[in-house]
Amino acid sequence: MKQNVMVTGAGKEAGLGFNLAKRYLDTGNRVIATVRKRSEALERLKEEFKDDLIILYMDIASSDSVRKAAEELRTKISHIDLLINNAVHVSPDCDKGFFEADLDYIPDTVNVTAVGAMRVIKEFFPLLQNSPITALIMNISSEAGSITRCYRTNIIEYAMAKAALNMATMNIFNTVKKDRKVNIFAVHPGWIRTDGREDNPAPLSSYEAAVILQDLFEKKREDFEGHRFITNENEDYPF
Ligand SMILES: NC(=O)c1ccc[n+]([C@@H]2O[C@H](COP(=O)([O-])OP(=O)(O)OC[C@H]3O[C@@H](n4cnc5c(N)ncnc54)[C@H](OP(=O)(O)O)[C@@H]3O)[C@@H](O)[C@H]2O)c1
Repeated sequence: MKQNVMVTGAGKEAGLGFNLAKRYLDTGNRVIATVRKRSEALERLKEEFKDDLIILYMDIASSDSVRKAAEELRTKISHIDLLINNAVHVSPDCDKGFFEADLDYIPDTVNVTAVGAMRVIKEFFPLLQNSPITALIMNISSEAGSITRCYRTNIIEYAMAKAALNMATMNIFNTVKKDRKVNIFAVHPGWIRTDGREDNPAPLSSYEAAVILQDLFEKKREDFEGHRFITNENEDYPF
């Protein structure tokens, strides 16, 4: 079945969001790719895939921007079958340790990475509910967001934001699980060369990661019983 798949933060050619969009287009689906600013890479995809790609402008730090984007999308399509919350924000101090990092950067990181995904779910929820199949929300989290497995002394802001996203996932799951019309998970997408650099030691290119995730997402669509935080290898990961 041809699905309507929405991916946030899909403008960076080497990034996971762009490559998820490309993978879903390559396999015959319609994609709604959201960006903050014009992306030449996405515009090249639009020339190739035409009406199967909708480029939507949205800043997920702003509820107003997300609301307007949802209104616009409702004039173009009737439903969403899969929402992938991929967008993330980090500050220039992300790699620093606790005593070195400027803590005033943290709220923006949490605002975009966790609250941003929540804004998107809230405003696009009516389109998810209209799906003829069980609609699926996949929040792209990270193993770094696990409190149980925390071992690092850096990337505090990123880890906090992903832990907050994980909590949002669980809380929203509790809200939607009775109706079983919309399902939701947090997923660690693997270690990926999202910077596109060949000297990056991560084992997966963004496109290779997208192929694995597409397969995983269909395995999880109807799973309302299992653990909510999973890895790209379909393992449960501790919150
Ligand atoms: N690389 C890995 O090994 C790895 C491991 C675990 C998890 N992840 C997760 O995988 C996902 C993709 O990683 P990535 O490196 O490809 O991501 P990224 O390029 O750093 O970020 C994805 C997109 O988020 C967008 N974004 C930032 N702030 C935004 C806002 N306010 N509103 C809307 N969009 C906004 C950016 O758009 P602009 O282009 O407009 O800035 C960017 O294109 C992330 O969630 C990351 O945490 C990656």
